[in-house]
Amino acid sequence: MLKRPFTLGKGKLVLPSNIFCAPLAGCSDLPFRRMTVKYRPGLVYCEMVKMDALIRHDPNTYRLLDYEAGMHPIGGQLCGSKPEIAGACAKIVEDLGFDVVDLNCGCPVDKVTKDGSGSGMLKHPDLIGEIISNMVAAVKIPVTVKIRAGWDSSHIVAAEVTRIAEEAGAAAICIHGRTRAQGYKGPANWDFIRDCKQASRGIAVIGNGDIIDPESAKKMFEYTGCDAVLLARGTMGKPWLIEDIYRYFDGEKPLGFRGLDYRDILLEHLDHILSYQNERRALLDLRRIGCWYLRGGKNMRHLRESLNRSKAALEVREMICNYPWHEADFSEADKEEESCEMESC
Ligand SMILES: Cc1cc2nc3c(=O)[nH]c(=O)nc-3n(C[C@H](O)[C@H](O)[C@H](O)COP(=O)(O)O)c2cc1C
Repeated sequence: MLKRPFTLGKGKLVLPSNIFCAPLAGCSDLPFRRMTVKYRPGLVYCEMVKMDALIRHDPNTYRLLDYEAGMHPIGGQLCGSKPEIAGACAKIVEDLGFDVVDLNCGCPVDKVTKDGSGSGMLKHPDLIGEIISNMVAAVKIPVTVKIRAGWDSSHIVAAEVTRIAEEAGAAAICIHGRTRAQGYKGPANWDFIRDCKQASRGIAVIGNGDIIDPESAKKMFEYTGCDAVLLARGTMGKPWLIEDIYRYFDGEKPLGFRGLDYRDILLEHLDHILSYQNERRALLDLRRIGCWYLRGGKNMRHLRESLNRSKAALEVREMICNYPWHEADFSEADKEEESCEMESC
């Protein structure tokens, strides 16, 4: 259950808690992380970076690893399938000042799996072990690995990979309880996470998949016996979910944000984006995050549609400021099925 503080990797690193924020390609950028770290996650991950691009010092890849002093403890995540460069890449992440380095074995996207990276690695559990060993040998910071349950339901390898990762020296393994074949469809199967916890002799097990509110966080701990949880889509448009989970475990009321709070938080996120991205990119990002924050709110459709049509970032700001937020009602937002378009990994 909730542990504050939480130790990762045989005393190597003491984290403020065992509630973590996930790597989210195209989403958990610097402005997003500015929003989530305010609510004190135990650890926050940057979106994945490709080993091949990092090793050739591609500036766009380095930019994905931008962070600020207040974002510690922070993890960088590597995606690749070449053991010969894994150690050097982990060292780059360590030298950039990261507290943790993670190996991505879960990304289901074809362009990633086609060279055997991401969830493609699940077809070769021994290769995962070799890569983790090389990373562990190259750095002093804890190495973690994030997997899906298996390639498909006929090839579930989560417990086997847990043992291999532990042997190879990983401090923690995070299991997203879906297979690669599932993509994001259907519920995550937490039985696989429980199996990993049973297979663990000491490696920390991080449960992931479908944690959307404090109740589901508690259920994940209880059902699987996992040591920590990782929040992903639940934090999109709701960075305060982490704080609400702490409050729930402490028997306190949730933050209970209403219409005007949503406005202020959306404006705050927007300002972070405007200070970080160029106008063209900022506009696209604003539409995306606008959808996250406004989905499920009653009387929000009009604002969402206006944001999507907007041609200038400052116009977006004005629209948000001038909206009659007292008419907004987010009380049922959690139950809302409306989805926002997003490229996943
Ligand atoms: C838009 C998007 C981007 C993602 N990017 C990454 C990534 O870079 N690395 C990774 O390991 N997982 C990535 N994931 C997977 C999530 O970290 C998480 O495992 C998954 O969404 C399941 O958790 P959830 O049900 O709480 O969302 C991504 C998921 C989404 C939706």
